[in-house]
Amino acid sequence: MSVLVTGGAGYIGSHVVRLLLERGDDVVVVDSLASGDRSRIGDVPLATIDLAGDAAVAALRAVLTEHEVTAVVHLAALKQAGQSVEQPARYYRENIGGLANVFAAIDGSDVDRFVFSSSAAVYGNPDSFPVTEEMPTRPINPYGETKLAGEWLVASAGRALGINTASLRYFNVAGAGWPELGDSVPMNLLTLAIDAVHRGEQPRVFGHDFDTPDGTGVRDYVHVLDLADAHIAALDYLQRADERSTVLNVGTGTGASVLDVLTQLSESSGRELSPLLMDRRPGDPGAVIADVSRMSEKLGWRARRGLEDMVGSAWQASEQARQGAQP
Ligand code: WQD
Repeated sequence: MSVLVTGGAGYIGSHVVRLLLERGDDVVVVDSLASGDRSRIGDVPLATIDLAGDAAVAALRAVLTEHEVTAVVHLAALKQAGQSVEQPARYYRENIGGLANVFAAIDGSDVDRFVFSSSAAVYGNPDSFPVTEEMPTRPINPYGETKLAGEWLVASAGRALGINTASLRYFNVAGAGWPELGDSVPMNLLTLAIDAVHRGEQPRVFGHDFDTPDGTGVRDYVHVLDLADAHIAALDYLQRADERSTVLNVGTGTGASVLDVLTQLSESSGRELSPLLMDRRPGDPGAVIADVSRMSEKLGWRARRGLEDMVGSAWQASEQARQGAQP
């Protein structure tokens, strides 16, 4: 029996794959390789399928049958909030159309557990923190909207198809479990700051007048290895609990400001930093911190790694990637 990881050749997915392999699970990956990298998953069986494509359902059914898949971790999706504002229809196709095709393929198969990659983006700009799963979901961009719609689809399919499901609302993921699996796309605070440092430039601070201890944005940063481990914990939970749909925050329950992250980056990299103070990004909330009590109470799971490990491992991964890229 195998676990299928869609998007398994990506940053988070490849960490999930490696943890599953380490504990002896058989794994098969489906990834379009549009942003994934085959080298992240070694010789794990890979089917390159565009999950939103016309041929996706038949191709996926063949994978489920051939590998006797009984559990699915679905991470394949587009995830750039800003890009989703410019290309909403593309996000509907990939994130909702692709998910619908996955369930069309699962229908009638032996799959009985499904873990869905959701996001704190479903909360939009929460009025208070820590954010609990019962708080209003008011996404403020098409990316967050497709994740919320995805949660509804997952819950509906769980009930209709008799599958135990869990939607994991990721807060801000960072770090590298192994240097070769680091996040190489400069799209979020830490990866953008590291990219700036390597280019001999200064990191930018978007907003320094928030109602936070040092005036800069506060987020709940969670180590990618903890996040991957949370998927394993969810899979095991769904095997022993009969839950057609549950929603779980995945974070640390603690906040770190932009300046906290950049101070840690200076320590981890040994570089003196003089961050550039800029205006706020439109729509950016001041503080978003997870309430993680449901993950703790239901699954007995808590994040174990802190900011120093996240920033240090991300820096080391970036150094190794640059050494590997040099001629
Ligand atoms: C973090 C903080 C910025 C860059 C996004 C998605 C969310 C989830 C996590 C997928 C904010 C500040 C950033 C920079 C800065 N992704 N910042 N300088 O916006 O919290 O969440 O990623 O699920 O869905 O929306 O992450 O890393 O962009 O920003 O000062 O160069 O860092 O203002 O306070 P965000 P982020």
